[in-house]
Formats: sequence, C-alpha cells, structure tokens
Amino acid sequence: MQIETANNLAKHARSAKSHKRKRNGGRYGLCLAAAVFVAAACATWNAGADQRSGALFAQTKQENDTAAIMRGRRIFEKRCVMCHGVTGKGDGIRAMSLPVRPANLSTSKMSDAEKARIIEKGGAAVGRSPLMPVWGNEFSKKEIGDLVKYLRAINIARK
Ligand code: HEC
Repeated sequence: MQIETANNLAKHARSAKSHKRKRNGGRYGLCLAAAVFVAAACATWNAGADQRSGALFAQTKQENDTAAIMRGRRIFEKRCVMCHGVTGKGDGIRAMSLPVRPANLSTSKMSDAEKARIIEKGGAAVGRSPLMPVWGNEFSKKEIGDLVKYLRAINIARK
C-alpha cells in the first residue's frame, strides 16, 4: 500500500512535470506563430506598398519621359530637320548641298552622353565635321537632354 502510494506520487510528479513542459512549450509555440504571422503580414503589406509606389514611380517617369520627348521633338523640327531630315535619316533639305552627309540619327550608335556632347559642343569639338553646329549657346542642358531623349525615341537601331 505504501509502495503503491509512493509509486503513484512519483508518477504524479512526472506527469505534472511533463504537463508543465508541454504547457510552456505550447505558449512559446503560440508566441512564435503570432510573431511569424505578424512578420509575414508586415512583409506582405510592405511589398504591396513598394509595388504601389514602384508602379506610381514608373508611371510618373514615363509621363515625364513622354513630355521630354515631345519637347525634344519640337526643337528638332525647328532646328535640326533641315540637315538631318524629318525622320532623322540625314536627308534634310540642306543635306544635299553639304560636303559631309548629316548623320543618320535613326541608326546612330552613339550613346546618350556622346550625343549630348556633340550637340552641345558641335562636331569639331569631338573630332567630327564642323558642319554639325554648336548648340550649347542656344539650348540649355535640359533642352539638350530633351533632344537626346527624342533621338533615343526615333532610333530604330538601339531597340
Ligand atoms: C547644318 C546642318 C546640321 C544641322 C542644322 C544639325 N546637324 Fe547634326 N550633324 C550634321 C552633320 C554634317 C553631322 C555629321 C558630322 C560627321 O559625320 O562628321 C551631324 C551629326 C550629328 C550627330 C552625331 C550622330 C552620329 O551618330 O554620328 C548628332 C547626335 C546630331 N548631329 C544631332 C543634331 C541635332 C540634335 C541637331 C539640332 C539641334 C542637329 N544635329 C542639327 C549637320 C547638322
């Protein structure tokens, strides 16, 4: 009888211990699950916000680019078509009377930076024909940037 009671006590103690461990484990588990959930929810929310602002940024950038291309086009039509031609192929009305053919801007391999440079400083400054005039006195850097964007838009070789 006494042995029985001692056995029972020991059993009880063991089961209480294991019960406690389980309960604690359970609480940690719950906390962990909650933390994971919160982290996941935050990540999802953040990703959504990033995506939204990213899309807005892309849209704004595209609208800005379109406006710049249109401004560049207006300048091009006034100041460049007589030599480079309406489509930029180098067949403008003045081209035939020039000893050097104006570059075909629809297939130009120049980078944007190189184009900006030759437009601003003229052909002679970059080792090309002086028949490509200097435009830096007439146009601001921003206007030259607009021209370069327009030239990129009409370039079929770089697409
Ligand atoms: C008087 C004629 C004339 C006018 C006007 C003119 N260009 Fe030119 N352009 C040239 C000639 C000629 C060349 C080629 C020079 C060479 O090959 O050495 C040239 C070359 C260029 C190039 C180099 C492209 C390449 O791939 O080699 C760019 C860019 C350019 N012109 C842009 C413009 C822009 C933009 C305007 C208007 C703001 C303009 N040009 C107005 C005659 C002209």
